[in-house]
Amino acid sequence: MQLKNDLLIRAAKGEVVERTPVWLMRQAGRILPEYRAVRESLSGFKELVETPEFAAEVTIQPVDILDVDAAIIFSDILVVPEAMGCTYEMVEKRGPYFPATIRTEQDLKRLRVADPEEHLGYVLEAIRVTKRALNGRVPLIGFAGAPWTILAYMVEGSGSKTFSHARGLLYTNPKLAHQLLRMITDTTIAYLKAQVKAGANLIQLFDSWAGILSPAQYRTFSLPYISEICNAINDVPVTVFAKGAFFALEDFSKLNCEVIGLDWNMEIGKARQQVGNSKTLQGNMDPCLLYSSFDTIQAETIKMLKEFGPQQHIANLGHGVYPDTDPEKVKCFIQTVKEYSNIINS
Ligand code: CP3
Repeated sequence: MQLKNDLLIRAAKGEVVERTPVWLMRQAGRILPEYRAVRESLSGFKELVETPEFAAEVTIQPVDILDVDAAIIFSDILVVPEAMGCTYEMVEKRGPYFPATIRTEQDLKRLRVADPEEHLGYVLEAIRVTKRALNGRVPLIGFAGAPWTILAYMVEGSGSKTFSHARGLLYTNPKLAHQLLRMITDTTIAYLKAQVKAGANLIQLFDSWAGILSPAQYRTFSLPYISEICNAINDVPVTVFAKGAFFALEDFSKLNCEVIGLDWNMEIGKARQQVGNSKTLQGNMDPCLLYSSFDTIQAETIKMLKEFGPQQHIANLGHGVYPDTDPEKVKCFIQTVKEYSNIINS
Protein backbone atom coordinates (compact mmCIF):
# COMPACT_ATOMS: atom_id res chain seq x y z
CA MET A 1 0.00 0.00 0.00
CA GLN A 2 1.10 3.52 -0.84
CA LEU A 3 2.03 5.61 2.23
CA LYS A 4 0.30 9.01 2.46
CA ASN A 5 3.04 10.37 4.73
CA ASP A 6 6.37 8.82 3.78
CA LEU A 7 8.66 11.55 5.18
CA LEU A 8 10.34 9.10 7.57
CA ILE A 9 11.19 6.64 4.81
CA ARG A 10 12.44 9.30 2.41
CA ALA A 11 14.55 10.97 5.10
CA ALA A 12 15.94 7.56 6.12
CA LYS A 13 17.00 6.89 2.53
CA GLY A 14 18.66 10.30 2.33
CA GLU A 15 16.15 11.69 -0.17
CA VAL A 16 15.27 15.39 -0.07
CA VAL A 17 12.31 16.12 2.22
CA GLU A 18 10.12 19.21 2.52
CA ARG A 19 10.28 19.01 6.32
CA THR A 20 12.02 16.97 9.01
CA PRO A 21 10.02 13.91 10.15
CA VAL A 22 9.54 13.44 13.89
CA TRP A 23 8.60 10.58 16.22
CA LEU A 24 9.58 9.60 19.78
CA MET A 25 11.18 6.46 21.11
CA ARG A 26 8.73 4.93 23.63
CA GLN A 27 5.92 7.15 22.34
CA ALA A 28 3.41 4.34 22.82
CA GLY A 29 3.11 3.91 26.53
CA ARG A 30 2.75 5.38 29.93
CA ILE A 31 2.85 9.08 29.00
CA LEU A 32 -0.65 8.69 27.56
CA PRO A 33 -3.69 8.32 29.85
CA GLU A 34 -5.35 6.56 26.91
CA TYR A 35 -2.61 3.88 27.07
CA ARG A 36 -2.97 3.48 30.83
CA ALA A 37 -6.73 2.98 30.43
CA VAL A 38 -6.22 0.08 27.99
CA ARG A 39 -3.43 -1.41 30.12
CA GLU A 40 -5.49 -1.24 33.31
CA SER A 41 -8.38 -3.05 31.68
CA LEU A 42 -6.05 -6.05 31.18
CA SER A 43 -4.10 -8.39 33.47
CA GLY A 44 -0.85 -6.56 32.68
CA PHE A 45 1.84 -5.58 30.20
CA LYS A 46 2.28 -9.06 28.75
CA GLU A 47 -1.39 -9.50 27.91
CA LEU A 48 -1.25 -6.16 26.09
CA VAL A 49 1.86 -7.18 24.13
CA GLU A 50 0.42 -10.60 23.30
CA THR A 51 -3.06 -9.50 22.14
CA PRO A 52 -2.73 -8.10 18.59
CA GLU A 53 -5.93 -5.98 18.69
CA PHE A 54 -4.88 -4.18 21.89
CA ALA A 55 -1.25 -3.85 20.78
CA ALA A 56 -2.49 -2.27 17.53
CA GLU A 57 -4.75 0.12 19.43
CA VAL A 58 -1.95 1.50 21.63
CA THR A 59 0.43 1.60 18.64
CA ILE A 60 -1.93 3.98 16.85
CA GLN A 61 -2.75 6.17 19.89
CA PRO A 62 0.34 8.42 19.53
CA VAL A 63 -0.37 8.89 15.81
CA ASP A 64 -3.87 10.18 16.65
CA ILE A 65 -3.00 12.10 19.82
CA LEU A 66 0.56 13.37 19.25
CA ASP A 67 0.50 13.65 15.44
CA VAL A 68 3.87 11.93 14.95
CA ASP A 69 5.18 10.96 11.51
CA ALA A 70 5.55 7.26 12.35
CA ALA A 71 4.05 4.52 14.48
CA ILE A 72 6.27 1.99 16.28
CA ILE A 73 4.74 -1.41 16.92
CA PHE A 74 3.81 -1.88 20.57
CA SER A 75 5.91 -4.74 21.83
CA ASP A 76 9.17 -5.15 23.74
CA ILE A 77 12.71 -6.23 22.98
CA LEU A 78 12.25 -8.97 25.62
CA VAL A 79 9.85 -11.01 23.51
CA VAL A 80 12.96 -12.43 21.80
CA PRO A 81 14.50 -14.10 24.87
CA GLU A 82 11.03 -15.37 25.71
CA ALA A 83 10.63 -16.93 22.25
CA MET A 84 14.05 -18.56 22.72
CA GLY A 85 12.88 -20.22 25.95
CA CYS A 86 13.88 -17.68 28.59
CA THR A 87 10.63 -16.22 29.91
CA TYR A 88 10.33 -12.81 31.60
CA GLU A 89 7.92 -11.13 33.99
CA MET A 90 7.21 -7.40 33.95
CA VAL A 91 7.17 -6.37 37.60
CA GLU A 92 5.12 -3.25 38.30
CA LYS A 93 7.34 -0.21 38.93
CA ARG A 94 10.50 -2.37 38.84
CA GLY A 95 10.81 -3.56 35.26
CA PRO A 96 11.67 -6.90 33.70
CA TYR A 97 12.62 -9.99 35.70
CA PHE A 98 13.83 -13.37 34.35
CA PRO A 99 13.20 -16.20 36.84
CA ALA A 100 15.91 -18.36 35.17
CA THR A 101 19.07 -16.71 33.83
CA ILE A 102 21.56 -17.99 31.23
CA ARG A 103 25.04 -18.27 32.77
CA THR A 104 26.36 -21.78 31.97
CA GLU A 105 26.58 -24.26 29.07
CA GLN A 106 23.84 -26.19 30.85
CA ASP A 107 21.56 -23.13 30.80
CA LEU A 108 22.23 -22.62 27.09
CA LYS A 109 20.82 -26.10 26.37
CA ARG A 110 17.39 -24.84 27.46
CA LEU A 111 17.36 -22.35 24.57
CA ARG A 112 16.34 -22.66 20.93
CA VAL A 113 16.67 -20.46 17.87
CA ALA A 114 13.09 -19.25 17.70
CA ASP A 115 10.80 -19.62 14.71
CA PRO A 116 9.09 -16.22 14.34
CA GLU A 117 5.81 -17.59 12.93
CA GLU A 118 5.54 -20.17 15.68
CA HIS A 119 6.90 -18.31 18.71
CA LEU A 120 6.33 -14.63 17.87
CA GLY A 121 3.20 -14.91 15.74
CA TYR A 122 1.37 -12.46 18.03
CA VAL A 123 3.78 -9.63 17.13
CA LEU A 124 3.47 -10.40 13.41
CA GLU A 125 -0.32 -10.41 13.71
CA ALA A 126 -0.18 -7.09 15.64
CA ILE A 127 1.82 -5.63 12.73
CA ARG A 128 -0.74 -6.86 10.19
CA VAL A 129 -3.69 -5.52 12.26
CA THR A 130 -1.93 -2.17 12.78
CA LYS A 131 -1.11 -1.80 9.08
CA ARG A 132 -4.72 -2.39 8.13
CA ALA A 133 -5.94 0.16 10.68
CA LEU A 134 -3.30 2.76 9.76
CA ASN A 135 -4.37 2.47 6.15
CA GLY A 136 -1.14 4.13 4.94
CA ARG A 137 -1.38 7.22 7.17
CA VAL A 138 2.22 6.91 8.41
CA PRO A 139 4.95 4.26 8.20
CA LEU A 140 5.12 1.51 10.84
CA ILE A 141 8.46 0.90 12.54
CA GLY A 142 9.37 -2.64 13.55
CA PHE A 143 12.18 -3.30 16.02
CA ALA A 144 14.33 -5.68 18.02
CA GLY A 145 17.05 -5.42 20.63
CA ALA A 146 20.64 -5.74 19.45
CA PRO A 147 22.13 -9.12 20.45
CA TRP A 148 24.44 -7.69 23.15
CA THR A 149 21.54 -5.89 24.89
CA ILE A 150 19.41 -9.05 24.78
CA LEU A 151 22.30 -11.12 26.17
CA ALA A 152 22.68 -8.56 28.96
CA TYR A 153 19.10 -9.16 30.14
CA MET A 154 19.26 -12.96 29.73
CA VAL A 155 22.47 -13.25 31.77
CA GLU A 156 21.70 -10.57 34.36
CA GLY A 157 18.07 -11.57 34.85
CA SER A 158 16.82 -8.01 35.31
CA GLY A 159 17.78 -4.41 34.75
CA SER A 160 20.95 -3.36 36.58
CA LYS A 161 23.21 -0.35 37.05
CA THR A 162 26.36 -2.36 36.32
CA PHE A 163 25.22 -5.51 34.46
CA SER A 164 28.21 -7.06 36.22
CA HIS A 165 27.13 -10.67 35.57
CA ALA A 166 26.66 -10.01 31.86
CA ARG A 167 29.92 -8.08 31.51
CA GLY A 168 31.68 -10.62 33.72
CA LEU A 169 30.67 -13.43 31.37
CA LEU A 170 32.57 -11.73 28.53
CA TYR A 171 35.78 -12.29 30.57
CA THR A 172 35.02 -15.60 32.27
CA ASN A 173 33.44 -17.45 29.35
CA PRO A 174 33.70 -15.54 26.04
CA LYS A 175 32.96 -18.76 24.13
CA LEU A 176 29.59 -19.14 25.83
CA ALA A 177 28.87 -15.43 25.24
CA HIS A 178 29.51 -15.88 21.52
CA GLN A 179 27.36 -19.02 21.39
CA LEU A 180 24.48 -17.14 23.00
CA LEU A 181 25.01 -14.10 20.74
CA ARG A 182 24.93 -16.47 17.74
CA MET A 183 21.54 -17.87 18.76
CA ILE A 184 20.11 -14.42 19.48
CA THR A 185 21.38 -13.10 16.13
CA ASP A 186 19.87 -15.99 14.16
CA THR A 187 16.55 -15.52 15.96
CA THR A 188 16.63 -11.74 15.43
CA ILE A 189 17.35 -11.97 11.70
CA ALA A 190 14.44 -14.38 11.14
CA TYR A 191 12.19 -12.27 13.38
CA LEU A 192 12.98 -8.97 11.64
CA LYS A 193 12.56 -10.49 8.18
CA ALA A 194 9.14 -11.74 9.32
CA GLN A 195 8.27 -8.24 10.63
CA VAL A 196 9.12 -6.78 7.22
CA LYS A 197 7.04 -9.45 5.49
CA ALA A 198 4.12 -8.61 7.84
CA GLY A 199 4.36 -4.94 6.82
CA ALA A 200 7.01 -3.07 8.88
CA ASN A 201 8.30 -0.13 6.77
CA LEU A 202 11.55 0.47 8.69
CA ILE A 203 13.46 -1.53 11.29
CA GLN A 204 15.19 -0.09 14.35
CA LEU A 205 17.76 -2.02 16.37
CA PHE A 206 18.04 -0.92 20.02
CA ASP A 207 21.46 -1.47 21.59
CA SER A 208 20.40 0.13 24.86
CA TRP A 209 23.39 -1.18 26.82
CA ALA A 210 26.10 -0.45 24.25
CA GLY A 211 27.60 2.25 26.47
CA ILE A 212 28.62 -0.07 29.31
CA LEU A 213 31.15 -1.98 27.17
CA SER A 214 34.73 -0.91 26.48
CA PRO A 215 35.31 0.01 22.82
CA ALA A 216 37.31 -3.20 22.29
CA GLN A 217 34.58 -5.34 23.83
CA TYR A 218 31.96 -3.52 21.80
CA ARG A 219 33.85 -4.39 18.61
CA THR A 220 34.08 -8.03 19.66
CA PHE A 221 30.71 -8.75 21.27
CA SER A 222 28.27 -6.33 19.68
CA LEU A 223 29.28 -4.76 16.36
CA PRO A 224 29.83 -7.95 14.32
CA TYR A 225 26.35 -9.21 15.20
CA ILE A 226 24.72 -5.86 14.44
CA SER A 227 26.57 -5.82 11.14
CA GLU A 228 25.25 -9.28 10.28
CA ILE A 229 21.68 -8.19 11.02
CA CYS A 230 22.08 -5.06 8.87
CA ASN A 231 23.37 -7.18 5.99
CA ALA A 232 20.37 -9.49 6.25
CA ILE A 233 17.65 -6.80 6.12
CA ASN A 234 17.53 -5.45 2.59
CA ASP A 235 13.97 -4.50 1.75
CA VAL A 236 13.44 -1.60 4.18
CA PRO A 237 15.71 1.03 5.79
CA VAL A 238 17.45 0.06 9.04
CA THR A 239 18.24 2.34 12.01
CA VAL A 240 20.93 1.41 14.53
CA PHE A 241 20.50 3.15 17.89
CA ALA A 242 23.32 2.28 20.30
CA LYS A 243 22.95 4.24 23.52
CA GLY A 244 26.26 5.53 24.83
CA ALA A 245 28.35 4.21 21.92
CA PHE A 246 29.92 7.56 20.94
CA PHE A 247 33.22 5.66 20.59
CA ALA A 248 31.78 3.52 17.80
CA LEU A 249 30.38 6.21 15.50
CA GLU A 250 33.15 5.72 12.95
CA ASP A 251 32.52 1.96 12.97
CA PHE A 252 28.81 2.64 12.39
CA SER A 253 29.62 4.58 9.22
CA LYS A 254 30.64 1.24 7.66
CA LEU A 255 27.44 -0.60 8.57
CA ASN A 256 25.01 -1.60 5.87
CA CYS A 257 22.25 0.55 7.37
CA GLU A 258 20.57 3.86 6.50
CA VAL A 259 20.16 5.65 9.85
CA ILE A 260 22.27 6.06 12.99
CA GLY A 261 20.48 7.11 16.19
CA LEU A 262 22.29 9.54 18.48
CA ASP A 263 21.73 10.01 22.19
CA TRP A 264 22.04 13.41 23.85
CA ASN A 265 25.61 12.77 25.01
CA MET A 266 26.73 12.82 21.40
CA GLU A 267 27.70 16.12 19.76
CA ILE A 268 25.78 16.58 16.54
CA GLY A 269 28.61 18.18 14.51
CA LYS A 270 31.21 15.66 15.65
CA ALA A 271 28.84 12.76 15.09
CA ARG A 272 28.15 13.96 11.54
CA GLN A 273 31.89 14.11 10.87
CA GLN A 274 32.48 10.63 12.24
CA VAL A 275 29.50 8.99 10.57
CA GLY A 276 30.09 10.84 7.27
CA ASN A 277 27.47 12.03 4.79
CA SER A 278 26.14 8.73 3.56
CA LYS A 279 23.75 8.15 6.45
CA THR A 280 20.78 9.91 8.03
CA LEU A 281 21.06 10.80 11.72
CA GLN A 282 18.22 10.43 14.23
CA GLY A 283 17.83 12.17 17.56
CA ASN A 284 18.89 13.53 19.93
CA MET A 285 17.15 15.80 22.42
CA ASP A 286 17.60 15.07 26.12
CA PRO A 287 14.21 13.67 27.27
CA CYS A 288 14.52 15.95 30.33
CA LEU A 289 14.03 19.01 28.11
CA LEU A 290 10.35 18.05 28.14
CA TYR A 291 10.17 18.88 31.87
CA SER A 292 10.90 22.55 31.05
CA SER A 293 8.65 25.42 29.90
CA PHE A 294 7.04 25.57 26.45
CA ASP A 295 9.36 28.48 25.54
CA THR A 296 12.50 26.55 26.49
CA ILE A 297 11.29 23.47 24.61
CA GLN A 298 10.77 25.55 21.47
CA ALA A 299 14.12 27.32 21.72
CA GLU A 300 16.14 24.15 22.35
CA THR A 301 14.32 22.20 19.65
CA ILE A 302 15.05 24.92 17.06
CA LYS A 303 18.70 24.92 18.16
CA MET A 304 18.84 21.16 17.63
CA LEU A 305 17.22 21.40 14.18
CA LYS A 306 19.73 24.05 13.11
CA GLU A 307 22.63 21.87 14.22
CA PHE A 308 21.42 18.84 12.29
CA GLY A 309 20.44 20.85 9.23
CA PRO A 310 17.33 20.40 7.09
CA GLN A 311 18.16 17.10 5.37
CA GLN A 312 19.27 13.60 6.42
CA HIS A 313 17.73 14.07 9.86
CA ILE A 314 14.89 12.36 11.73
CA ALA A 315 13.96 14.36 14.82
CA ASN A 316 13.60 12.33 18.02
CA LEU A 317 14.73 12.30 21.63
CA GLY A 318 18.13 10.86 22.57
CA HIS A 319 16.38 7.98 24.39
CA GLY A 320 12.83 6.95 25.23
CA VAL A 321 10.43 9.58 26.58
CA TYR A 322 10.15 9.38 30.39
CA PRO A 323 6.82 8.11 31.73
CA ASP A 324 6.12 11.22 33.87
CA THR A 325 6.32 13.62 30.89
CA ASP A 326 3.30 15.87 30.22
CA PRO A 327 1.85 14.90 26.79
CA GLU A 328 1.33 18.64 26.09
CA LYS A 329 5.11 19.14 26.30
CA VAL A 330 5.62 16.23 23.91
CA LYS A 331 3.18 17.88 21.50
CA CYS A 332 5.14 21.14 21.79
CA PHE A 333 8.36 19.35 20.76
CA ILE A 334 6.61 17.69 17.79
CA GLN A 335 4.86 20.87 16.62
CA THR A 336 8.08 22.89 16.88
CA VAL A 337 9.90 20.40 14.65
CA LYS A 338 7.08 20.50 12.11
CA GLU A 339 6.64 24.28 12.01
CA TYR A 340 10.30 25.27 12.13
CA SER A 341 11.61 22.70 9.66
CA ASN A 342 8.77 23.59 7.31
CA ILE A 343 10.10 27.16 7.23
CA ILE A 344 13.79 26.38 6.80
CA ASN A 345 13.36 23.53 4.32
CA SER A 346 11.19 25.57 1.96
O1 CP3 B 1 6.50 3.18 22.00
C1 CP3 B 1 7.39 2.37 21.76
O2 CP3 B 1 8.57 2.70 21.64
C2 CP3 B 1 7.01 0.91 21.48
C3 CP3 B 1 7.09 0.03 22.56
C4 CP3 B 1 8.39 -0.34 23.27
C5 CP3 B 1 8.36 -0.83 24.60
N1 CP3 B 1 9.61 -1.25 24.92
C6 CP3 B 1 7.16 -0.90 25.44
C7 CP3 B 1 7.31 -0.94 26.90
C8 CP3 B 1 9.72 -0.41 22.83
C9 CP3 B 1 10.33 0.03 21.51
C10 CP3 B 1 10.48 -1.00 23.89
C11 CP3 B 1 11.93 -1.29 23.78
C12 CP3 B 1 12.68 -1.66 24.97
N2 CP3 B 1 12.27 -2.46 26.02
C13 CP3 B 1 14.04 -1.34 25.19
C14 CP3 B 1 14.91 -0.56 24.23
C15 CP3 B 1 14.71 0.90 24.33
C16 CP3 B 1 15.32 1.54 25.54
O3 CP3 B 1 14.56 2.10 26.32
O4 CP3 B 1 16.55 1.50 25.70
C17 CP3 B 1 14.42 -1.90 26.42
C18 CP3 B 1 15.78 -1.80 27.07
C19 CP3 B 1 13.29 -2.61 26.92
C20 CP3 B 1 13.21 -3.42 28.17
C21 CP3 B 1 12.18 -2.92 29.10
N3 CP3 B 1 10.81 -2.97 28.88
C22 CP3 B 1 12.39 -2.30 30.36
C23 CP3 B 1 13.75 -2.04 30.97
C24 CP3 B 1 11.13 -1.98 30.89
C25 CP3 B 1 10.80 -1.39 32.25
C26 CP3 B 1 11.17 0.03 32.36
C27 CP3 B 1 10.43 0.93 31.41
O5 CP3 B 1 11.12 1.53 30.56
O6 CP3 B 1 9.22 1.04 31.50
C28 CP3 B 1 10.16 -2.36 29.93
C29 CP3 B 1 8.70 -2.19 30.05
C30 CP3 B 1 7.97 -1.51 28.96
N4 CP3 B 1 8.20 -1.71 27.64
C31 CP3 B 1 6.90 -0.61 29.13
C32 CP3 B 1 6.47 -0.24 27.84
C33 CP3 B 1 5.34 0.67 27.48
C34 CP3 B 1 6.29 -0.18 30.46
C35 CP3 B 1 5.38 -1.25 30.93
C36 CP3 B 1 4.11 -0.72 31.53
O7 CP3 B 1 3.16 -0.44 30.79
O8 CP3 B 1 4.10 -0.63 32.75
